[in-house]
Amino acid sequence: MRDIEVRGKRVLVRVDYNVPLDAGKILDDSRIRATLPTISYLREQRAKVILMSHLGRPKGWDEALSLRPVAERLAKLLAHEQSRRRPGVDHGDTSSPESWASPREGAVQMTDCCVGVDVQRAAHSLREGGVLLLENLRFHAEEEANDPEYAKALASLGEVYVNDAFGTAHRAHASTEGVARLLPAVAGLLMEKEIEFLSLAVENPERPYAAIIGGAKISTKMAALENLLSKVDKLLIGGGMANTFLKAEGFNVGESLVEDDYLEQAKSVMRQADEKGVRLLLPADVIVAERFAADSPARRVSVKDVPEGWRIMDVGETTIDVFARALQDCRMVVWNGPMGVIEMAPFAHGSHRLAGVIANLREATTIIGGGETAAVVEQVGLASRFSHVSTGGGASLEFLEGKELPGVTALMDA
Ligand code: 3PG
Repeated sequence: MRDIEVRGKRVLVRVDYNVPLDAGKILDDSRIRATLPTISYLREQRAKVILMSHLGRPKGWDEALSLRPVAERLAKLLAHEQSRRRPGVDHGDTSSPESWASPREGAVQMTDCCVGVDVQRAAHSLREGGVLLLENLRFHAEEEANDPEYAKALASLGEVYVNDAFGTAHRAHASTEGVARLLPAVAGLLMEKEIEFLSLAVENPERPYAAIIGGAKISTKMAALENLLSKVDKLLIGGGMANTFLKAEGFNVGESLVEDDYLEQAKSVMRQADEKGVRLLLPADVIVAERFAADSPARRVSVKDVPEGWRIMDVGETTIDVFARALQDCRMVVWNGPMGVIEMAPFAHGSHRLAGVIANLREATTIIGGGETAAVVEQVGLASRFSHVSTGGGASLEFLEGKELPGVTALMDA
């Protein structure tokens, strides 16, 4: 983005404001905050900033998935950012956007739709430094269909296209791929940072390099495991997916979540690790529960002693101690996927402790995959202690799988 002239131009920026909402309340605004550098840079250049995003997976118009709450939060964040840059201003409580003053200076205009005459008018009458947010792109099925006419209508709003939506870069949609073919198309500052860091994990990583892979299902992580096996020195496996490995090793895992169809693939991963000299670590102890419920009786056992009828819910203290020792000499650490059932507080402990262990590594570049793993480090207030916390869940996983991301490829082609 810094290589092209944007001064005074209408810049159409694809952002990923697909944030978690509860009855219109934003539960986590990290994806909005992550776009502030790009927006501030464009405003400083006196560009006219036209933002577009999807939110959720609506089937047609859906008031509950309007981007209006996002426009309000963005306005507050921009106003706050502006006052922070001005010397002699009392910044007050910087942690809670709810407590901030009204966002006069950061005003964000919003349209009721993302294409059409009114949107055209709003985009063309935007003043230099002004910010306009279009309504949810997915209110039109043409967005996900990558419809050429829809892409054309979006492209007509801007003179330059910036893609800052790393979280949606694995989707070939009208606003991520179609538009990039119609306007001069460049990466925003967030997109640039994401690619810079995630590339470190798949191309010439510093060594020793450890990948920690967790999450519920091995099926969703298989491609990443296969790709990482030829890159890493250590592979640490936790979360529900570790159960399939444990069962493949011959352990009784009781009623734990297991993907029996993947037992052979789990064995193949272990065999390949052995052949390639990759140190593969599985949980040594686990927290088991009688029922899949937060209030279930639970206890810590060795993986050799999972009681019949019980299920594995988290990794145990010994496992985290072993993982911590394995990580100590690493120069590169990538973590994707929680170690346990984090949505139930008693079983989030292993993931929280692991976040602390990685945050304290002094010599390593530490990269946190987006989605649930990013949520874990946010929960424990450690996000700022990692080299990079990705804003992309599915996108960062596909990057680790070694796949091309259509939203990125389109920019390179432009
Ligand atoms: C995400 O949250 O992973 C992105 O915003 C993409 O959303 P999608 O999975 O609905 O395409």
